[in-house]
Amino acid sequence: MSVNAYDLTGRTAFVTGAASGIGRASAVLLAQAGATVHCADRDAAGLDETATLIKDTPGSVRTHVLDVTDRGALKEAVASCERLDVMAAIAGIMHSSTVLETLDEDLDRVLGVNFKGVLYACQEAARTMIATGTRGSIVTMASGAVDTGGPGLLCYGASKAAVVQLTKTLATEVGAHGIRVNAVAPGWIRTPMTGQHGEAQARTEAFMARMSPLGRVGEPEDIAHAVLHLASDASSFTTGQILRPNGGVTMPW
Ligand code: NAI
Repeated sequence: MSVNAYDLTGRTAFVTGAASGIGRASAVLLAQAGATVHCADRDAAGLDETATLIKDTPGSVRTHVLDVTDRGALKEAVASCERLDVMAAIAGIMHSSTVLETLDEDLDRVLGVNFKGVLYACQEAARTMIATGTRGSIVTMASGAVDTGGPGLLCYGASKAAVVQLTKTLATEVGAHGIRVNAVAPGWIRTPMTGQHGEAQARTEAFMARMSPLGRVGEPEDIAHAVLHLASDASSFTTGQILRPNGGVTMPW
């Protein structure tokens, strides 16, 4: 194996949630590694900003404005890729409500985006990789919430636990085709998702920083590097795993 196993020149990656935060940082880093990156999101303006950032990299970019809960739109976008080596299913939403206050529509909305949206992306990617004989890599986005739980986390945590199960199950089903499937379960990362709650958010961020042996919360680039690792040949013997870039806040076996 080359010492430059992170080189993605000639590879094509598809990234959902690429208009913001972790998805944007991942798309830019994959392009810096040389990949052609297909960026998908429902936020057209955010996608344009990501595309501008990618213009300064060795890679190239195409954008797809779509909702990940629309299976047909995802299928069409993936089909438009000239080849597919990497799927990074990152789009997600946060929702907080106690178990007793959770409404059916909250659960449906969060599971729709965070679980079904990832499932559709995984299905389209795996079908395409199998059909083309590509020994690709699929990366899903779980969360530290799957290890810890916490008040208000029912819908979000359930959706991310489902992503973990999807990741492990699919890894067992497509490994024979040389396709790897892994999840990233980040800790607290400073993005628009975690940055909308003013003082309460600042207190939580300070608390999360104190919980980490490294004394800080994460930045989107910390997670992008985990995505690049799992997307690239550097992780060629890694599948069905949950990578936890969380500053050591949890240390499960
Ligand atoms: P973000 O809010 O900055 O980015 C999420 C992106 O997903 C946005 O561009 C949004 O437009 C897109 N998106 C949401 N719903 C969509 C839909 N239905 N169709 C298409 N695009 C849609 O959030 P962030 O923090 O970058 O989160 C990215 C992923 O990382 C999410 O899956 C999140 O659950 C996960 N995560 C984030 C953590 C954090 O602390 N920020 C911690 C653990 C996991």
